[in-house]
Amino acid sequence: MAQAQDIGIGLMGVGVVGSGVATALHEKAGRIEAHVGAPVRLKRVLVRDATKVRPSLPRDVHVTSNADDLLTDRGIAIVVEAMGGEQPAFDYIQRALHTGKHVVTANKEVLAKHGPELFAHAAEHGVSLRFEASVGGGIPIIGPLLSDLLANDLTAVHAIINGTTNYMLTRMAHEGLDYADVLRQAQHLGYAEADPTNDVDGIDAAYKLAILASLAFQTTVRDSDVFREGIRKVTAADFRYAAELGYAIKLLAIGKRVNGSVEARVHPAMVPLARPLAKVDDVLNAVELEGDLVGWAMFEGPGAGSLPTTSAVMGDILRIAEAVASGGRVPAAPRIDRVLPVQPMADLRTKYYLRLRAFDRPGVMARVTKVLGDLQVSLAGVIQKETIHADGVAEIVVTTHAAREADVQEAVRLLGKLDVVREVANLIRVEDTE
Ligand code: NAP
Ligand code: HSE
Repeated sequence: MAQAQDIGIGLMGVGVVGSGVATALHEKAGRIEAHVGAPVRLKRVLVRDATKVRPSLPRDVHVTSNADDLLTDRGIAIVVEAMGGEQPAFDYIQRALHTGKHVVTANKEVLAKHGPELFAHAAEHGVSLRFEASVGGGIPIIGPLLSDLLANDLTAVHAIINGTTNYMLTRMAHEGLDYADVLRQAQHLGYAEADPTNDVDGIDAAYKLAILASLAFQTTVRDSDVFREGIRKVTAADFRYAAELGYAIKLLAIGKRVNGSVEARVHPAMVPLARPLAKVDDVLNAVELEGDLVGWAMFEGPGAGSLPTTSAVMGDILRIAEAVASGGRVPAAPRIDRVLPVQPMADLRTKYYLRLRAFDRPGVMARVTKVLGDLQVSLAGVIQKETIHADGVAEIVVTTHAAREADVQEAVRLLGKLDVVREVANLIRVEDTE
């Protein structure tokens, strides 16, 4: 019997994700061959520094810092991109697709910025582009959106898709720590990078939401369409009030289809404690979906790390390799050919939590409530503690019924100008149905 031909893999990047993939390809070679029906072999690896010792790589793998070595190798059928960043990843993926290679990527940034172009290139050249690892690490969520849930009209996505900030917010909630302390902890544990901007300012979550919302609502949503607010302003005090009011605070990524347009936002949100998302703690991720057929479904699991992400990348490699080996059809890239308008954030209607620091004088509450009332922002509750700070300032927490974002922002501006208000310390949106 003729021996099945090798399916060659070209791996771009051997960091946290790439080294896991190289190890899995090597250690699970027998199982993979039995499943695919042909050997799947790592042939070439692209890195920045080709002189560095790479213990995860078998000796016969060619290591290069020249992308052409990999992209022009006709023995490579599948390129796995695990470098990260917009460029040169975007160019390399395009070139791989143009030369008839299938691509598996873990890169959320390149997909959030260029997904539709890359999907179109893949379709044009009859090759596959898979990206399960780009959202939610090891959680299978892209696959279900591309196949199992396809018959649904999906109307809402609520997700916790950044492990670093979920870890930080969980520690703040459980240990009463402040932002700076938990950031140091997260950096010490290797979750947050020395420059934590992408995680704490919601950039990483916005990339992932753009991908989820594009697939869920079958429309182009780019990272620049996503309203974004990070967790830097959330304090231990907010967690104390949230607990008193029956909420957890999470960095939520929210996508909705509303009257022919799409809502896409990432920001800290108060989530009722009884809701499953409120219990997703530490570095875990979760994606909650609503659809006309499935009703409600939640996917939860490890959102980052070498092994969970490797699990997702390997699943994509196996699906493509199986089709290549059998001469069958490779999984098609998604086709997203409409662009629904994105709802301006000013038009959002939701509930709000406002924490003010105001001078403890007669008439303060009346002036605060007048500003809100004049803008049609209706109060749901007020908390003012006996404690008065040494500077004569008291903390007032106001919760509202559903109101328009533009009106609430105007109220925050006007409240900040009142001579009786020292500062509007925080505004957090409340994800609760009335
Ligand atoms: P990483 O540890 O920083 O590794 C990056 C690798 O890519 C390194 O081997 C680096 O080479 C190589 N590389 C970077 N730029 C290059 C360039 N211009 N030319 C050639 N090689 C280059 O990154 P990672 O954490 O594995 O992340 C990789 C991708 O997976 C990113 O898109 C990330 O968002 C995504 N992802 C990561 C996780 C996670 O938990 N880490 C989870 C899900 C998705 P050198 O080794 O020579 O520096
Ligand atoms: N920095 C990301 C996180 C890595 O914390 O979730 C996984 O994409």
